[in-house]
Amino acid sequence: MATNKTTKAVEESEQVANPAPAKTAPKQTSSKAKASSAPKASTKTAAAPKKTAPKKAAPKASEKAEPTPQNSKQVAQNEDKKKILFVASEALPYVKSGGLADVAGALPKALNKQGCDTRVILPLYMDIPNSFRQTMVYVGNCYVTLSWRYQYCGIFTQQYDGVTYYFIDNEYYFKRHGLYGHYDDGERFAFFSKAVLECLKVIDFKPDIIHCNDWHSALTPVFLDCFYRGQDETRNTKTVFTIHNIEFQGKYGDGMISDVLGLDQGARRLVELDGCVNFMKGGIECSNKVTTVSPTYANEILTPFFGYDMQKILNNRRYKLSGIINGIDTAKLDPMTDKSLFKNFNLENFGDKVKNKTALQELLGLPVREDVAMIGMVGRLTHQKGLDLLTCVIERLLNMDIQLVILGTGDWKYENQLKEIQNRYSGRLRAIINFSSDMASKIYGATDMFLMPSKFEPCGLSQMIAMRYGSIPIVRETGGLKDTVPPYNHETKEGRGFTFVTYNADDMLYAIERAVGLYYDYKEEWKQVVHNAMTADFSWDNIAKQYLELYNNL
Ligand code: GLC
Repeated sequence: MATNKTTKAVEESEQVANPAPAKTAPKQTSSKAKASSAPKASTKTAAAPKKTAPKKAAPKASEKAEPTPQNSKQVAQNEDKKKILFVASEALPYVKSGGLADVAGALPKALNKQGCDTRVILPLYMDIPNSFRQTMVYVGNCYVTLSWRYQYCGIFTQQYDGVTYYFIDNEYYFKRHGLYGHYDDGERFAFFSKAVLECLKVIDFKPDIIHCNDWHSALTPVFLDCFYRGQDETRNTKTVFTIHNIEFQGKYGDGMISDVLGLDQGARRLVELDGCVNFMKGGIECSNKVTTVSPTYANEILTPFFGYDMQKILNNRRYKLSGIINGIDTAKLDPMTDKSLFKNFNLENFGDKVKNKTALQELLGLPVREDVAMIGMVGRLTHQKGLDLLTCVIERLLNMDIQLVILGTGDWKYENQLKEIQNRYSGRLRAIINFSSDMASKIYGATDMFLMPSKFEPCGLSQMIAMRYGSIPIVRETGGLKDTVPPYNHETKEGRGFTFVTYNADDMLYAIERAVGLYYDYKEEWKQVVHNAMTADFSWDNIAKQYLELYNNL
């Protein structure tokens, strides 16, 4: 998640450079100045959308209407619901830089389908499109202390797809372009993590579970234990911390522990690792349960190769670690309805898929051939995604009778290498160095195979989308790739893809050769693999049940 590239929500609209002033939301205090505790009325708020802030403060429990027999039944039902506060640094449809946004945009909705009351809380970034900001409702405000700092925290809310979202408003920390990559990210997300707890009084929500994700919200369980235990809102609250990518841990100089986090000597050990403050360690130490996004990755991160120096801590806390695989939004990601495709298709009329191939070939200026094996790659062009393996053997790969279409941005060296190779293999390679979800869909829809040779992959979503679109994954057996792509077995006719184990370019090439061989020479068997892939269930419903079971066992 630690990228400052923000791929914004699909429902994008024009960006607010300077959010419009609102009528009555309280003024924000400056970062350094210690403000008086009473919020002053003013004419401006950090990101208050024009005319809407404060629309009308959401009624507090005490101000709610008297219960009638009907609504008291409803209230009782709501009381019975498991209350979950899902804390994330990004979520669709508001802001996205990576897979966390997909999960935070889908899991809460799926949990609510299981009868929970799940609400999501996010920073009110400037990059959240104006179309959303305009309809947000101001709930109230509070102040957050971070050591000697005393920071304004406005709270906005909005319903989307049956889920209540809350937004933490503070201009000093969030009125900037880009989600991450600022010099003071540590302080920004320490503020966010504490604001989550402080605002519970204002939003009148007593969560049974606070579910935090990645290092950006990892300090919430730490602050809960150190400063908020015993308070009414969190008296019975349990915490879950999910690791989406252990590479990014939120590591800063240990001076932050007292100067920003305001933790005393006794609490240092919760967040200190190798002479630094490490936010993720705090999340692991203080949460009741730690999960990651696939069972295989849960085992892998216990070892030095995958653990990024967290393996020792995780081995000590192994009793509370588990892995639950992610799902994909099967309603939105459906080749039968996806508007980006040239021609919609499903398993019953799979013959139509090839029209997507020829149309994409035309669009990209590749030789138009129905019969050629077309391989796709969609994702960040970084070492995590196995780009070093690909660039190592790409010329040998392009000497095979295939076409390769790559979409994504990332490390400069890979972008340039691919552009250079494209010049020499213009009939076989297209490297599209940008990101567009429309083009991503077109590639999933057009290709026969999907290459994802990741060095590590906590879960991975693209391979699941590819399978749904009948593009057979060729993956390294790591993390979620191992859990979602069982290799095709000629004897049993089971399996959905082609895999290799060792992080080695020749092994990858051999897996590609096996896939291409089956595609050209064993057409009936290829249909079987496609059938296996397209009928696999990657929906969130089953996964939400697993999370619910985890919550219920806390
Ligand atoms: C991160 C991981 C990816 C995972 C996603 C959502 O982006 O790299 O594998 O699918 O988080 O959990």
